[in-house]
Amino acid sequence: MPANKKVFVLPGDGIGPEVVGEVRRIIDWMDKRRHVSFDLSEGLVGGSAIDAHGTPLKDETLADAMAADAVLFGSVGGPKWEKIPFEIQPERGLLRLRKEMDLFANLRPAMVFDALADASSLKKELVAGLNIMILRELTGGVYFGEPRGIETLPDGRRRGINTQVYTTDEVQRVARVGFELAQKRDNRLMSVEKANVMESGLMWREEVTKIGAEEYPDVALNHMYADNCAMQLVRAPKQFDVIVTDNLFGDILSDCAAMLTGSLGMLPSASLGAEDPTTGTRKALYEPVHGSAPDIAGQGKANPLAQILSFAMLLRYSFDMGEDADMVEKAVDNVLNAGFRTGDIMTPGGKLVSTEQMGSALLAEMDKLAA
Ligand code: IPM
Ligand code: MG
Repeated sequence: MPANKKVFVLPGDGIGPEVVGEVRRIIDWMDKRRHVSFDLSEGLVGGSAIDAHGTPLKDETLADAMAADAVLFGSVGGPKWEKIPFEIQPERGLLRLRKEMDLFANLRPAMVFDALADASSLKKELVAGLNIMILRELTGGVYFGEPRGIETLPDGRRRGINTQVYTTDEVQRVARVGFELAQKRDNRLMSVEKANVMESGLMWREEVTKIGAEEYPDVALNHMYADNCAMQLVRAPKQFDVIVTDNLFGDILSDCAAMLTGSLGMLPSASLGAEDPTTGTRKALYEPVHGSAPDIAGQGKANPLAQILSFAMLLRYSFDMGEDADMVEKAVDNVLNAGFRTGDIMTPGGKLVSTEQMGSALLAEMDKLAA
């Protein structure tokens, strides 16, 4: 079979290379067992790129990411690079990728696997069966708004500035993705902002309401303030289906939702651009919600499942390989049911395994599922 599925791999820093390594094993497995080959290439991003080239993202690397069908991203950052100038810190590499690839729609599904309902910090009955989708706007808002910076005032005080700013088209396009996701799920959309305090939030609410009434009257749309949403996520998380929110609130609320599922180590994400009208494809980057976890990097302790589930999203959204994605997700469910646990999701009676052992257990399940 021709290798036409171009995947650009950016393992990054910390545990990134370890967890991405487990995905590479799945890719090899798919090559051998399912005759699906990927055209893989790899690049440097974040701290590892700073060490090699003095910048967290080279222009060439960005060009490779743009040319790929999908980017599989690990994680960036760590204490080693904390002291370097802000403009070239590891995170800037990821933010530049998101911005330049125009990956405005960030899908962060929070699902509780039955076997992990006990690993959640909430009572089991509150989270068992939880399946919500947080849709985070990813290329606008305070993350990129101008003016920004740190300035020194005439009297010597310093002033730090960031700007929360959205235009109607930015709100409309992410809202449409939210409505469309809801239509494929339980048909409910919760739009989250702070319209009581911020004009940008008020405009957001008005635009989402308008799109809903004009284009998606069948979807049940509701609105919530972000602080209330944080509270509701820990009070009664199952009330939500799809949540659409801005860049900063989405960052915060998705970490919160992640913990409901037992561990940050379980949450995948997909960052998608607009559909190309001629090819029907989208630029896309897949990354776990967790960070580079420098404290456990290189020790074989990291949970590879969020990265593996991000790969399942890649199969589903970039290559329309829903069956294969289902199989990977089923294999994750099975290894958890069989009791395999990395430290972050350890539950009483669980079998503590390393990153690589978790990968091996997963491949064994894939073998069974493919038999
Ligand atoms: C995330 C991360 C990033 C963000 C960091 C690493 C820049 O926290 O993807 O949620 O703030 O967006
Ligand atoms: Mg975050």
